Amino acid sequence: MSVSSPRVAVIVVAAGSGLRLGVGMPKAFVPVAGATLLEHAVHAVNGMSHRAQLVVVVPSDRLAESGTILGTIAPHALVVPGGETRQASVAEGLRAVDESVEIVLVHDAARAFTPSQQFDAVVAAVAASGEGVVPGQPVSDTIKRADAESRVTQTVDRAELVAVQTPQGFPRRLLVAAYRAATGEATDDAALVAAIGHPVRVVPGDALAFKVTTPADLARAEQLLHAGSSEPRIGLGTDTHAFGGDGELWLAGIRWPGEPGLLGHSDGDAVAHAIVDALLSAAGLGDIGSVFGTEDPRFAGAHGETFLTATRQRLDEAGWRIGNVSVQLIGTRPRFAARRAEAEAALGGALGAPVSASATTTDGLGFTGRGEGVTAVATALLLRRSTVPPA
Ligand code: CTP
Ligand code: MG
Repeated sequence: MSVSSPRVAVIVVAAGSGLRLGVGMPKAFVPVAGATLLEHAVHAVNGMSHRAQLVVVVPSDRLAESGTILGTIAPHALVVPGGETRQASVAEGLRAVDESVEIVLVHDAARAFTPSQQFDAVVAAVAASGEGVVPGQPVSDTIKRADAESRVTQTVDRAELVAVQTPQGFPRRLLVAAYRAATGEATDDAALVAAIGHPVRVVPGDALAFKVTTPADLARAEQLLHAGSSEPRIGLGTDTHAFGGDGELWLAGIRWPGEPGLLGHSDGDAVAHAIVDALLSAAGLGDIGSVFGTEDPRFAGAHGETFLTATRQRLDEAGWRIGNVSVQLIGTRPRFAARRAEAEAALGGALGAPVSASATTTDGLGFTGRGEGVTAVATALLLRRSTVPPA
C-alpha cells in the first residue's frame, strides 16, 4: 500500500434474520463447509490488497458471539448492533467508521463468497472517479413486465439492465450525506446516493458474489466450496472375529449353514464390518465403533446388511456416493470361492455399489491358519455425489 492510498473502511452488514432461508437463525451465522457465512465474508475482506477498517454489524443479541467468532480472524474489527432494516444496520455501521476514512464499502455478509478482487476493484473505481460504484452483472434471463392477472405487458430491453451486487463503494462524505438525507427505505446504498443527485457507476461483478437468500442458494454454496475437494477418497478397514459363537455363521452378508458361528456383539460378520470401516474412513466419519456404538442394543445380533445400509445412509447425508469396494477374507473356512458371486451380490446390493470379494488362507499360519477365527481387509473408494455447482 502506497502512502497516497486512500483510507478505506468496509462495513459488513450481518444483522438480518434470514427469514427466507428459514433455518431458524440469522443467516450470517449459518455454517457452510465448516465456517459461518460471516466468517467467509470476513475472509474475503482480509484478502483485499487494500488494508481496511472493518466494521461488522450483527444482531444485537449476537454481539458477544460475534466478538468470539471475529476474535481470531479479525481482531481489530468493530462489532456494532444492527437495526430493524438493512438500511438502519448500514447507518449503525457508518456511525462507527473512523472520521479519517475516505472510501467506505458496504457489503452484505450474505454475499459471503465474493472474491477479494471485487472489493479492490470497487475501491479503485471509487478512488479514480470520486463517485459511487456498484458491482453489477448483465442479466441473462429475458425480463418481462406482467400485470396483476399475470398477463405479459412488456418485454424489457435487457441491454440496459444490470443485476447489482455488493460491496458498493462511496466516498465516505457522500455516503454520510446520503444517509443523513434519507427519508424512506431504499433498496440499496447506491439508491440513496442517487437520490441526493450523485452519479453511480457500474463495474463488473462476479457470479461468486451471489447472495445466499434461499435454501437453494445455501446448497449451491456448499457445492461450490466442496468443488475444490471433489477428488475421490479412499479408505481402509480391517476386522477380526473368533469362532465360538453359539449361532450360525453369517459372513459377507450371507448365511453359511453348517459352519460354526463367529463371536461378536453383532453377528460377527468381519467382512461387512471391514467394509464399513473402509467406507467411514474414506469419508472421514470415524469408525464402526464410534458411529454405531458397539454397545448399542439396536445392533445386538444385527447382520452385516444392517450396518452396510446405515453406513450408506451416513455417506449419502455427507454428500458421498460409493465408487467401489474391494474386500478380502483371510481364513481357512468357510470355503468362500463357490459362493463368491452370491456374497458380492448381497454386499453390493446393500451398498448400491460394486463390491469385489476374494478369499485367501495363510498357509496354516497364525490364528486364521489354525481356524480360530477370520480376518477381513477392505478398501473403499468414495466420490462426491455432485461435483458441478449449479449455475
Ligand atoms: N441485514 C442487516 N440488517 C437488517 C436486515 C438485513 O444487516 N435489519 C443484512 C443481512 O444480514 C444481509 C444483507 O443485509 O447480509 C442483505 O439482506 P437479506 O439478504 O435480505 O438478509 P436477511 O434480511 O437476513 O434475509 P431475509 O430478508 O430473508 O430475512
Ligand atoms: Mg432482508
